[in-house]
Amino acid sequence: MSGANGAHVARGAIYPGSFDPLTRGHLDVIERAAAVFPSVLVAVVVNPQKREPLFTLTERKQMIVAATAHLGNVEVADFRGLLAAFAQRIGAGVIVKGLRVVADFESEMSTALMNRSLSGIDTVFLPSDPQFSFISSSLVKEVFFLGGEIDQYVPEAVLHVMRAKRATLRPTEQTEERQPS
Ligand code: PNS
Repeated sequence: MSGANGAHVARGAIYPGSFDPLTRGHLDVIERAAAVFPSVLVAVVVNPQKREPLFTLTERKQMIVAATAHLGNVEVADFRGLLAAFAQRIGAGVIVKGLRVVADFESEMSTALMNRSLSGIDTVFLPSDPQFSFISSSLVKEVFFLGGEIDQYVPEAVLHVMRAKRATLRPTEQTEERQPS
């Protein structure tokens, strides 16, 4: 990409998140961002503010690396602290966020403005594909650990890691699998 703003558009996008775990909705945003921007750095926050992650940082990163192996301009990194500071440090041109529902917009709008105020880096919102708009990492985890099928909501690579994680949990930590009727 080039033009009057070439210096800026030449810099890549950063797509931050907890990715605990990566969903098909996340992957869709990454694929679409990778088609628009010269490069996409998927930035995994080390300590999500919401709650203790189920998956380790290494697991979360490995799942993304495996699921994005088909994309030549996507890399995965982790960061601590302020996203705005990290994005500035790596010279990101833009922050990418996916929007699923109106509630996402309400919270993401103020975050985007704060990030721009702190760093001068703008946020570009990609509307979720309707087929993924109800998918979230927390719902996927809840459904999975209650015995539901999640194949259609997470990439194959994530499914393998989730099955392995479930196998490591003590029986008391697992909820009964749904029995065929
Ligand atoms: O996938 P998530 O949990 O919605 O991702 C949230 C994330 C990691 C993008 C957000 O919590 C974040 O940017 N954390 C870094 C801390 C930060 O910069 N806070 C100030 C936001 S204005």
